[in-house]
Amino acid sequence: MSAAQPVWLFGYGSLIFRPAIPFVERRPARVRGWTRRFWQWSTDHRGEPWRPGRVVTLVPAPEDCCWGMVYRLAEADADAILADLDVRERGGYVRMEIEVELHTLVEQALAPSPASPQVVAGLTYQGWPGNRNYAGPAPIDEIASQVILATGPSGTNADYVRDLDTALNALGVEDTHVVALAARLGE
Ligand code: SIN
Repeated sequence: MSAAQPVWLFGYGSLIFRPAIPFVERRPARVRGWTRRFWQWSTDHRGEPWRPGRVVTLVPAPEDCCWGMVYRLAEADADAILADLDVRERGGYVRMEIEVELHTLVEQALAPSPASPQVVAGLTYQGWPGNRNYAGPAPIDEIASQVILATGPSGTNADYVRDLDTALNALGVEDTHVVALAARLGE
């Protein structure tokens, strides 16, 4: 992607509730053909190498979609921001190009979807199967028991799940996998 084009960065995990990057514009967004799953180990943010946590990755799902937040980066700063994010997301994620549907926030909530939303070429961080931190599927109770025990330099794994759940709730988005996991973690 040329640096002269707008850079849209799609976040579906911590990049929703803790972007910690400068951006020009932020929009709720949807990617079609993907779903969000806690199938990536975290050994550097929400866990430790000897007790990894579980964080989200995107999994191909032709009939599904994943809601998140997209950030338009200032063109002049984009390379530096992405270089910093490459460090933050170094636990097995790689940058991937992805088509992103732009939606609208009204008073912090998702506005009704237009019939034909604008679609832009974006970037996201993806943990492909086979990356060194790929955890893969597991029963939701097993995932919950791993999340409850894990903590790392960025905080507890349970707070990662709760913060993601809260951020999606605030948008009015129901992700049944996130809701099911958050419900198993208690207060
Ligand atoms: C993302 O937020 O888009 C990537 C996964 C994460 O950092 O939680």
